[in-house]
Amino acid sequence: MSYCPLAQTAKITNQVILVGSGCAYPNQRLTNTQLGLRVDTNDSWIRSRTGIGARRIIGPGETLTDLSYKAASAAIEMAGWDPQSIDLVLLATSTPDDLFGSAPAVQTKLNANNSVAFDLTAACSGFLFALITASQFLRTGSMRRALVIGADQLSSWVNWDDRRTCVLFGDGAGAVAIEAKETSEKGLIDFELRSDGRRGNYLNLNKTKDFSHLIENSSYQTGSFSPIEMNGQEVYKFAVKEVPAILQTLLRKTNTDPQMLDWLLLHQANQRILNAVADRFKISYEKVLTNLADYGNTSAATIPIMLDEAIRSGRVKPGDLIASSGFGAGLSWGAALFRWHGPN
Ligand code: ACO
Repeated sequence: MSYCPLAQTAKITNQVILVGSGCAYPNQRLTNTQLGLRVDTNDSWIRSRTGIGARRIIGPGETLTDLSYKAASAAIEMAGWDPQSIDLVLLATSTPDDLFGSAPAVQTKLNANNSVAFDLTAACSGFLFALITASQFLRTGSMRRALVIGADQLSSWVNWDDRRTCVLFGDGAGAVAIEAKETSEKGLIDFELRSDGRRGNYLNLNKTKDFSHLIENSSYQTGSFSPIEMNGQEVYKFAVKEVPAILQTLLRKTNTDPQMLDWLLLHQANQRILNAVADRFKISYEKVLTNLADYGNTSAATIPIMLDEAIRSGRVKPGDLIASSGFGAGLSWGAALFRWHGPN
């Protein structure tokens, strides 16, 4: 039998509560009509097929690290935390400024010097996967405070001449502050996570296969990536099948009737996907949080940006029950059921 020192000290009574949120997006705004100046598309096609009206794109003088820092700062401020009290800074991104990881740069800007900081990659499911990963440290009692950030800059990786993909994505960052608390009230109630690499070829941002000469009889593979490639129809079918299925499993497991939910908080990929999931559970569209019209698909950032906007606008209130699901490349997908707690 293996020996696990953590298990000896674990406080399994810890609950994970969500106490702060924040978001940040770039200054540059690009409307559907403006995109039509670059590719053969138009506002009516994009809106009717996706619900997207505009997106934000990182421009000169902005970086993903800066956006992540701003989103995280807002979450820390809402939570009322001293940055020195943070144990973990977890950055979910597929597009870091530094391939070695951008979380330590965010940690430094935040002055969260007592934390460990690292990146996690799971494409559009990244925020949800990071939230669950961070919550495990909190539940065992090995950490008390974690900052979970979802941030992406897919504008650098789309082919701006491919109208089938470039209209879908935007840039942004969102963050949530979570805390371990010994309490009977539950914040993060339960979760489900899935991956299926067999369907990974539906959505890729692959390394190029170019080699360069090194010395005689030796070459090296150059460090560059091809733009996003997507089979839109297969991704659509995947989402409308797997998201209801995983939510159903989670709701059953937690004895939650869909009508008990205050909000459905899904990865903002396409309004038609959001509506299809709501229809499946007979949930009114008024309970489906959406900001696709303003930001498009910001990948790992969609869920925390949407959550923060809904909290700050007063729609999501302390105690509200939220079912969330992220899905995307990998393929990967996940779901979490939680109550928004708010600052202590
Ligand atoms: N503007 C105008 N016409 C377009 C555009 C555009 N931007 N894009 C495609 N078309 C045309 C096509 O060329 C095609 O024309 P044709 O019939 O003459 O060949 C026609 O519109 C229909 O194209 P489809 O690809 O069949 O359109 P579809 O209804 O499937 O919609 C879409 C495409 C919106 C991409 C849809 O498949 C979808 O939403 N899929 C899910 C994709 C997604 O959400 N990906 C991200 C999720 S994972 C993540 O977030 C990383």
